[in-house]
Amino acid sequence: MADQPKITLNNGVEIPALGLGTWQSKPEEVVHAVEYALKEAGYRHIDCAWAYGNEKEVGEGIRRSGVPRGEIFVTSKLWSTRHHDVEGSLDESLANLGLDYLDLYLVHWPVHLNPNGNHPNFPTLPDGSRDIVKDWPISKTWEQMEAVLKKGKVRSIGVSNCSEKILEQLLPHASVVPAVNQLEIHLYNPQHELIEYLKARGIVPQAYSPLGSTGSPLLQDETATAIAHKHGLQTSDVLLGYLVAKGYVVLPKSVTPARIASNFTGALAAAKAFTKEDIEKLDGVAASGKQKRLITPPWGVDLGFRNWPGQNPLQL
Ligand SMILES: NC(=O)c1ccc[n+]([C@@H]2O[C@H](COP(=O)([O-])OP(=O)(O)OC[C@H]3O[C@@H](n4cnc5c(N)ncnc54)[C@H](OP(=O)(O)O)[C@@H]3O)[C@@H](O)[C@H]2O)c1
Repeated sequence: MADQPKITLNNGVEIPALGLGTWQSKPEEVVHAVEYALKEAGYRHIDCAWAYGNEKEVGEGIRRSGVPRGEIFVTSKLWSTRHHDVEGSLDESLANLGLDYLDLYLVHWPVHLNPNGNHPNFPTLPDGSRDIVKDWPISKTWEQMEAVLKKGKVRSIGVSNCSEKILEQLLPHASVVPAVNQLEIHLYNPQHELIEYLKARGIVPQAYSPLGSTGSPLLQDETATAIAHKHGLQTSDVLLGYLVAKGYVVLPKSVTPARIASNFTGALAAAKAFTKEDIEKLDGVAASGKQKRLITPPWGVDLGFRNWPGQNPLQL
């Protein structure tokens, strides 16, 4: 078992710094990806979500790996059409995964969509915009998250895609401070200011789309590639290792065994190899004209993020 860095959450629970992402992993592929990651590649952390539609197969991969449940950190997420029914949705994810508790349950996006709308995941109004439940403060969802934590169905609770603006609405009403905030964080969207805000409040940042999501476009970056060459590493190692070195939880997705393995060992090797100057260079890449968000679903509401483009090319 490879030694791997862990981060202690604000409730004392330890989370492995590297986790396998599962968004867009086809059900028939994710079984093998999860099994391989746990059994062969050293991962002990799997990032799932009800909305990914593959929780049953993730659960099958966990079982096939033979790794004891207690050694694995499993996260799932509450989808937006279920903000009124956190426990029911959690129970569904647990049944899908074949587990009796989660290590972490996240509010996937801080927007409540109409549960009785024209689509189970993405209900829309006649004009095509998303059918949002208005007058639903995030604290109404969070109260229910706190309740499932109290019941012992999850070991930790957190949020995802929450800007400072949304957290300022939530925190005054929260008895439990979110353990994490899972965000789009990578070389081109480092969100330095939001991360300072989270650190000051004991909320651990989790970095999603660390390679730039579909097709891993950040592998083309010249600065990351130059630093990789200097240390005899791959560019993917530098992109992932940068986020590990910053102290974030990092969630690379792959269904390709060789990549699953090298993302794990390469990230750890890169995090160890970087000099202070390497980190400073990587910290400055976005501000040098490369700032770019890649995951910007058309919620039709202002989530309060910087650099959120008017146009949305990607449908989650
Ligand atoms: N909370 C949220 O709203 C949210 C949003 C997005 C993502 N996430 C989580 O974060 C995870 C990661 O984000 P992501 O899936 O968007 O993207 P990502 O991990 O940045 O990139 C995944 C892409 O990179 C490819 N890839 C992986 N390792 C590679 C390597 N070493 N060399 C070349 N290509 C490589 C994968 O291809 P193959 O699979 O074909 O190998 C896939 O096309 C998700 O899976 C999900 O668990 C959460």
